[in-house]
Amino acid sequence: MIKQAIIPLAGLGTRLLPLTSVFAKELLPINGRPGIEFILDECIEAGIKEVIFIISKKKEMIKKYFFNDSYYKKIIKKKNDIRIKNEYKKILKYKKMIKFVYQNKPLGTGDAVLKTKKFIRDKFFLMLLPDDLIIKKNCSKSMIKIHNKYQSSVMASMKVSKKSVSRWGIYKLGKKINKYNFNIKDVIEKPSVLKAPSNQAVIGRYILPKKIFSKLHNQKPGKGGEIHITDAIQSLINENNKFIAHNFSGKYLDCGSMNGYIKSNLEIAKL
Ligand code: UTP
Repeated sequence: MIKQAIIPLAGLGTRLLPLTSVFAKELLPINGRPGIEFILDECIEAGIKEVIFIISKKKEMIKKYFFNDSYYKKIIKKKNDIRIKNEYKKILKYKKMIKFVYQNKPLGTGDAVLKTKKFIRDKFFLMLLPDDLIIKKNCSKSMIKIHNKYQSSVMASMKVSKKSVSRWGIYKLGKKINKYNFNIKDVIEKPSVLKAPSNQAVIGRYILPKKIFSKLHNQKPGKGGEIHITDAIQSLINENNKFIAHNFSGKYLDCGSMNGYIKSNLEIAKL
């Protein structure tokens, strides 16, 4: 059973400047709600009991958002507003399941994952990248079902345009399992159009094995000088660990770029 999730939040968010010069992008409202709440709801609905946030000193406002009890209590006492009361209850529910670890230098997603090592108890855990919202169908829930069936790692995937492959982790398709699921042969971080083995991209939902930590421990920086989770996954694939690509059926929204963020607001308003 997958009961723990990790969420890397320690990146700089440069693509959303100037909004992110003083604000954590994960708290930016999407149709009136901080983006991170959509991610937490996906986790709760998928049966996750504990979520580990990887933050940095610069992003401590995320911690404050969930741990602001005395402020809420004062306001509720004064105003007795039902909406605020309900919001507070919801935040208390999130607070109970969140733990924090710090990555003060953004050395890459792989390095962020490594910071959670001592908290992970089971053989597998879920990772969600908060820039990637998937609406209309709970992608994490579907992936957990696949994991339970095959007892393997799973990554969310979708086809992207050929010219945009250099923005993504791209994988080489192996044997087809069924209409939505494939074995992954190789995965490459942000390949050039010429070097991309396909136009199937990894999207920000991963079920990873605990043994990925030992790979990350010894991993040298890769593309752009960062420690990428993709490179650790490739090392595991090289040792015949099974990774399944799940072509999810929900709708993908990219909240990490300015255009994507604006579009996400419009899409969620339509729900
Ligand atoms: P990205 O590299 O896509 O986004 O990281 P970013 O760094 O936040 O933003 P840009 O590219 O400068 O606009 C993907 C996810 O991994 C986290 C980010 O917070 C984001 O959720 N991350 C990235 C870390 O936690 N640590 C890192 O060292 C790098």
